Amino acid sequence: MNKIKNRKLNDKEDTYLETLLRPSSWDKYIGQDRIKNNLKIMIEAAKKRKDLPDHLLFYGPQGLGKTTLAHLIAKEMNANLRVTSGVNLEKSGDLIAVLANLEPGDVLFIDETHRINRMIEEILYPAMENRKIHITVGKGPSARMLALDLPPFTLIGATIRINLLSAPLRSRFGAIFGVDYYNTDEIQKIIAQSAKIIGMEISDDATAILAMASRFTPRNANRLLKRVRDVAEVKGKKAIKAEVVNETLRLLEVDSLGLEKWDRRLIETVIRKFNGGPVGLNTLSAVLGEDRGVIEEIHEPFLIKMGLLQKTPSGRIATADAYEHLEIKNVKSKRKAAA
Ligand SMILES: Nc1ncnc2c1ncn2[C@@H]1O[C@H](COP(=O)(O)OP(=O)(O)OP(=O)(O)O)[C@@H](O)[C@H]1O
Ligand SMILES: [Mg+2]
Repeated sequence: MNKIKNRKLNDKEDTYLETLLRPSSWDKYIGQDRIKNNLKIMIEAAKKRKDLPDHLLFYGPQGLGKTTLAHLIAKEMNANLRVTSGVNLEKSGDLIAVLANLEPGDVLFIDETHRINRMIEEILYPAMENRKIHITVGKGPSARMLALDLPPFTLIGATIRINLLSAPLRSRFGAIFGVDYYNTDEIQKIIAQSAKIIGMEISDDATAILAMASRFTPRNANRLLKRVRDVAEVKGKKAIKAEVVNETLRLLEVDSLGLEKWDRRLIETVIRKFNGGPVGLNTLSAVLGEDRGVIEEIHEPFLIKMGLLQKTPSGRIATADAYEHLEIKNVKSKRKAAA
């Protein structure tokens, strides 16, 4: 079975599948109805005015469909999508080059918006507000400031860490949408849709198990589905049943709730080292050797959503469900009960 565990999809195949599975129309973009409805109205209104929609910001956990929304919006507006990321905008010249190359009506997608540094952010303000960029030409006393006009464009930002976005930048977006975890029904629909696209036959109970382990996240659902396909292929199974899904999850060390090693380590640390908590974020970050922001904004949201971890003013607490899920005896609650 190591063959499967060690099998890495080559980049080409993975990118190909990614493109194939990414919804290319609103009806294939399952769930997030509130956001979809708002966007549809904004786009339609802009079209009627022969104008462009306001700058938009999407935030929320990884893999929930923020990038996909940017693609869909551009498609809906018949616009070119220019893609960059806060990571790539290191110098002011990087952003100026991107902006100066915009064509009228373009959608500029800046992924990981929180990674843009403050100096570069200041170039964005006038660009977003009145479509201008200011460039300094020359040096010293003879330096001059030139204002360059930009064509009409819509900026779409996406971030998993909205808290890191400065207030002035946030305030320049015309609408801000938080994408949320999907519900079980929606995830099942996504799995069924993806299975159909890649030509997989999957039973309802297999879909249900997969959905449970998908962290209510489409990217995870698709990723697991691809691994399930590998296992089924190696085992020579055509139709996918519960047994193949369970075996895949075992191989990937993903448990029935979709928890991975790291998640279990976090909860186990709270339980075993801190007697279930409360434990402060700083302490937890030191013990786990992970940045506190990363714990708070990347690892914790799902555990909190699942009711395994609780955030309280005095720190993080592992819930009774967490003890139960990890099959650890809850000595503390027994003591309490006895008292
Ligand atoms: N609503 C949806 N319906 C169906 N599939 C979806 C939906 N949202 C996302 N997906 C699938 O999940 C994948 C991940 O989505 P996407 O890349 O848009 O997430 P993201 O929010 O941008 O993640 P990150 O924060 O890591 O950049 C997509 O390629 C797509 O296949
Ligand atoms: Mg993305």
